[in-house]
Amino acid sequence: MKQLVVAGNPIDHSLSPIMHIAALETLELDREYCYDKVLLQKSDLKKFVESLESGLINGANITLPFKTSVIPFLSNITKEAEAVGAVNTIYRKDSDVIGSNTDVQGFLNVLHENDVDLEGSCVTIIGAGGVARAVAFALVSKDISVLKILNRTKLNAEKLVTSIKQVSDVNLQSGSLTSFGNSEDEIDLLINCTSIGMVGQSIGKSPVDKNLMSSNTVVMDLVYNPMVTKLLEDAVQIGCRVIDGVGMLLHQGALSFESWTGLKPPLNVMRKALLQVLEVTDDGP
Ligand SMILES: NC(=O)c1ccc[n+]([C@@H]2O[C@H](COP(=O)([O-])OP(=O)(O)OC[C@H]3O[C@@H](n4cnc5c(N)ncnc54)[C@H](OP(=O)(O)O)[C@@H]3O)[C@@H](O)[C@H]2O)c1
Repeated sequence: MKQLVVAGNPIDHSLSPIMHIAALETLELDREYCYDKVLLQKSDLKKFVESLESGLINGANITLPFKTSVIPFLSNITKEAEAVGAVNTIYRKDSDVIGSNTDVQGFLNVLHENDVDLEGSCVTIIGAGGVARAVAFALVSKDISVLKILNRTKLNAEKLVTSIKQVSDVNLQSGSLTSFGNSEDEIDLLINCTSIGMVGQSIGKSPVDKNLMSSNTVVMDLVYNPMVTKLLEDAVQIGCRVIDGVGMLLHQGALSFESWTGLKPPLNVMRKALLQVLEVTDDGP
């Protein structure tokens, strides 16, 4: 049996097994592969990577808080993982063990699936943490016109802009979260990359004031539990097109699956499995 895992700490909340097991069953690979959660300690990271090198584990998703700290133990990482400074997938290719970051392409796949045309667009990201970094690097790889990063801690937004400037000529701006709406400029795409609105933390809260949003903006929330966040609820009310966070969860997972098995997973089956669980745990509106 080939062993796939998702490793992090905490790990109980992870929805990755739900979608990967559903895909393995549908492709009748569940006799060949199993997928489990691993509660990892920082001191076990080296041993963990060694178990991928020895073939004891055949593929892994890495989640918080190890996406960056795992990098020194890997001899090969992809250029996306290097740019973002985070690994969320480890796979074996011949005798090599490779760390990749599927959040970057997963995010772009969601935009493609939703027919969002990035060319010449003005994009605002709220947040400057791990996922904001992946999203920002994905966006500047496309032909966007302006990328503005707004964050509670302005310094973190400035730092992210500084690091993207090293690889991109896109017009990059940073600011504090409270400066949202200060500019008259239209926003084509607004993406919440903070945890504001998430179940258990700040459910029912939005990172931005509804009255400062425009109906011409496509609004995407990366929070996926609840699926309909306060931000998306507000956006729908004022007539915006919205994209929920389940799509990115699904697409980054699908790319991981492909790198382990070499097969394209059934997206519809994985999505259905996620939605079933989210309906059970969804305390949202
Ligand atoms: N859909 C998906 O596939 C997907 C993938 C990855 C992550 N996510 C979601 O994205 C969110 C962020 O994840 P992450 O890994 O980037 O986390 P992270 O690295 O810890 O970054 C958190 C970000 O949220 C901001 N923030 C946190 N609490 C806030 C508050 N109360 N008010 C204002 N800003 C606040 C932080 O601002 P400061 O800099 O000021 O601390 C920082 O910018 C999580 O909800 C996660 O579940 C979704």
